[in-house]
Amino acid sequence: MGASSFSSLKKKKIRMSQQINTNVTPSFSSQEKSESNMYEGRSYHNTDSIYWLPNDNEELDRLIGQHFALKSLFGGNFNTKVLDYMSMEDRTTKVLDCGCGPGTWIMDVATEYPNIQLTGIDISDVFPTSIRPPNVNFCLGNLLERLPFEDNTFDFIHVRLFIAALRKEEWPLALEELFRVLKPGGILISTECSQIGPGRDFINEFAILIAKFMESRGQEPEIAAMLPDLLVSKGYELIDSVKQVINLGANDSLSREFLYDVINLTRNAKPFIAPHLNLTTDQEYNDMVNKLTIECQKEPQAQWSFTSTVARKPL
Ligand SMILES: C[S@@+](CC[C@H](N)C(=O)[O-])C[C@H]1O[C@@H](n2cnc3c(N)ncnc32)[C@H](O)[C@@H]1O
Repeated sequence: MGASSFSSLKKKKIRMSQQINTNVTPSFSSQEKSESNMYEGRSYHNTDSIYWLPNDNEELDRLIGQHFALKSLFGGNFNTKVLDYMSMEDRTTKVLDCGCGPGTWIMDVATEYPNIQLTGIDISDVFPTSIRPPNVNFCLGNLLERLPFEDNTFDFIHVRLFIAALRKEEWPLALEELFRVLKPGGILISTECSQIGPGRDFINEFAILIAKFMESRGQEPEIAAMLPDLLVSKGYELIDSVKQVINLGANDSLSREFLYDVINLTRNAKPFIAPHLNLTTDQEYNDMVNKLTIECQKEPQAQWSFTSTVARKPL
């Protein structure tokens, strides 16, 4: 590949018919199994969710690795301000991880705090069904429908990386539903990522195209920065908001771990992203991913950030 411009990767327009059909009505209960669609050899949630990442082993491996990188980035599984508001040793303390994926965060917290009761819920049954810590349960559920919990059930709700799962207009509804199941005085922690950048031409152009791709799906690429205000507008009290920045070109092991995560994320999102980048063959897409890796490695300014916002339902 010669020119550094991203546009040199573009070859042909992709046909609309190659895009994924997400027009399938979901139907979930805690007893049912979720269904999947196969597309380009990858498995996806078979629902009308806008979510554009697969639910196969490769993606689950990425999420597990990403969990431990995030734990290291933030110095723990959650902001310790939570401990000012509740006991994580008390047998009555109830924790929900909404959109738990493979359940890595919740099983890690369950092992650290063996007395509390934890529930993981996800639209896709990618969580463990048999082997798990004894204080953890998992169930199927869609945050955009009524969650299968009574009002005021949980002391602490964790919700992480819904950026690719919700349309901008769905965020307020999702925060309202979480507010409903949170106890008065309970804590919500929402952690979301930014776009990558700034950088030289290639990285900037990549970030712009990804932002346009998300906007074309009605999604908000900068939701992380908007969440504190959004939470307050939905009746939560803001407790704290911590932004951690990663330099993707830095040579320490954590930065390299996050670069690996960006690259795997880009690979796993191929069936959705490739048409928007007008990349029609595997070779073109692989060339783009390889170039993204090299550009990030040599660009001292290329950053990725995660913002973790802590909010409370008033007493
Ligand atoms: C990027 S993954 C993050 C998983 C986990 N929170 C973590 O940080 O490792 C997003 C998860 O949200 C789930 N998800 C997407 N839309 C959802 C919805 N409407 N309701 C519940 N879960 C949803 C996906 O199935 C996926 O497991």
